[in-house]
Amino acid sequence: IGLGEVVCLGQNEIHGLMEMCWKEGSRDERVREALFAHANEVTRRFFGNKVFYRGLIEFSNVCQNDCLYCGIRKNQPNVERYTISKKQLLSIALWAHDNGYGSVMLQSGELNHPARMKYLTDVITAIRRETVLTNLEKEKRHRRHSNQAEDPAIDELIEEVRSESFIGSDPRFKDKGIGIALSVGELSEADYRRLHEAGGHRYLLRIESSNPELYSKIHPPTQPFAKRLACLRLLKKVGFQVGSGVMIGIPGQTLEDLARDIVFFRDEDIDMVGMGPYITQEDTPVADMWQAQYGHVDKKEHMAEMFDLTTVLISICRITMGNINIAATTALQAINANGREVALRRGANVLMPILTPTQFRENYQLYEGKPCITDTAEQCKECLNFRLKSIGKEAAKAVWGDPPHFYQHV
Ligand code: 5AD
Repeated sequence: IGLGEVVCLGQNEIHGLMEMCWKEGSRDERVREALFAHANEVTRRFFGNKVFYRGLIEFSNVCQNDCLYCGIRKNQPNVERYTISKKQLLSIALWAHDNGYGSVMLQSGELNHPARMKYLTDVITAIRRETVLTNLEKEKRHRRHSNQAEDPAIDELIEEVRSESFIGSDPRFKDKGIGIALSVGELSEADYRRLHEAGGHRYLLRIESSNPELYSKIHPPTQPFAKRLACLRLLKKVGFQVGSGVMIGIPGQTLEDLARDIVFFRDEDIDMVGMGPYITQEDTPVADMWQAQYGHVDKKEHMAEMFDLTTVLISICRITMGNINIAATTALQAINANGREVALRRGANVLMPILTPTQFRENYQLYEGKPCITDTAEQCKECLNFRLKSIGKEAAKAVWGDPPHFYQHV
């Protein structure tokens, strides 16, 4: 196969590749380097040296679920619960737009409640309206400054966007204003439709593990695997660009599970993948399970291995799925200070700078050692731009950054 070509691999081949590229002792350095180089070349072919940014706004840690690994699950002690006001959330999104971020990702704990739906549809509509308006007004000014005739069509659009009947998903404003991705959990089809109509167009819902048995070990019985899978399929049906992903290094998880996870992404026709290492969090049942299985090993070394395995999986996803979006996740940086850059050189093409106001960050600790919790959005922006430059990449400015896969399969 030529460098940069997308390759269709079956589960056994993926499993074999993981063993050849990852396991200390059995791994073959030449194959490993070839894997990373190939993944980077496939990425380059579809995205050049551009990286898509999504400004991550963790707007609420209130959660009705009790995922047994998570630091903001319902029964987690010592978490102060917060929800950012709609006004503050809007102002953060406007900051992102002004700073050239093409998309924001609104993420929170799960809350299946009409008030939350109202909050979300209001906020999504407002973000779409304000950022589309900003663009239209800029266009108008630009015409004036370059001595072009006034365009009545622009005034008409401005009028419409200001009106009560504005809908954030109006196709005339596609790629205008800021793009909106959501990650707010399992909801009904009707609610997914409302969010999509309001102007959300991407949705991230991790499957966590595609092995139903393993899934049931890390979730309470009230959160069945079948429901998660059904929600993923609903999102697709409703028209979202759908992202999913798994945690890597869950106690009890095998390489075979992970190989099947990749096949799962492809079978479910996932448009974007976000994977990260599982990281223990105090006071959670899965941390105890982890302790029982891995307590005797050197934790630092083990986490470095999980980090490495995650990047191998990212590479394989890139090679087998081609033009999907793949995130260099924050959890990678929790383990390795340069973690996200390494991932971007091994097949990832998306970065999610955290825009959550500093005062709330310490209460959105999904796991121990989550980075950047004392930083501001401004600092995160500078830091990431610098990091990208160091690996010869740059942020794609002011584009939504949709995964090409959503429109065209390779
Ligand atoms: N370690 C790593 N990732 C975690 N997540 C939640 N808890 C942890 C943890 N302890 C991830 C889950 C979830 C996403 C929002 O954060 O995969 O989908």
